[in-house]
Amino acid sequence: MEESEYLTLPLVPEITLHLPGSSLFYEFAGGPQWKTPWPGGQALARHILDNSQELAGQRVLDLGCGCGQVSVAAGMSGANVHAVDTNSGAVEACRANLERMGLSGRVEHLESLDGFTTEVDVLLVAEMLYAEPLRRAVIPWLLEHLDRGSSLLISERGKVGLERLPVRPVAEHEVPGRGAGGETRLYKAVIWRSV
Ligand SMILES: C[S@@+](CC[C@H](N)C(=O)[O-])C[C@H]1O[C@@H](n2cnc3c(N)ncnc32)[C@H](O)[C@@H]1O
Repeated sequence: MEESEYLTLPLVPEITLHLPGSSLFYEFAGGPQWKTPWPGGQALARHILDNSQELAGQRVLDLGCGCGQVSVAAGMSGANVHAVDTNSGAVEACRANLERMGLSGRVEHLESLDGFTTEVDVLLVAEMLYAEPLRRAVIPWLLEHLDRGSSLLISERGKVGLERLPVRPVAEHEVPGRGAGGETRLYKAVIWRSV
């Protein structure tokens, strides 16, 4: 798990991202969040590839795509990928990582979720419920899109906010990363599906 320009995801060795300056250091202490392939996103990418028939041919939205690990897994599974993020660095990284894996997809920068709507079959969300202001923006938006007929796969390390969504756990993964002292440790992420 050395730092380099390229990062092969420990839980998803099928995916190597171009991510200069990234690491698997998950005790977040500032810096752009999108540079980290978060455990929730890795777990979701693993789940997607292990169940690739589920997304083949589906229109998916990767909400808060970050470095693009979930989008890449969805593209590898044959999904029609739309990815969005409020950070322009994330948008560039996701777009570049799709391209270098030979995948197509639409990657879009958003100022916020206000006024943004989309028609997709499956919403893909990873590590987007970790702070209350984010939960206040994301949860109503997800509920609105579930009402419109989309389904949801969401992967989180915590549980806070999930009780406000009609979801049930379907899988969990332990994702190798680095703890506060640089030691290797496992981070559990649970994948939830809309009911
Ligand atoms: C913790 S990172 C998770 C990234 C990716 N899903 C993963 O698992 O690696 C959260 C991402 O959400 C983006 N973000 C934050 N607020 C957002 C919003 N309101 N709409 C879309 N993206 C947002 C951030 O820029 C960041 O890339």
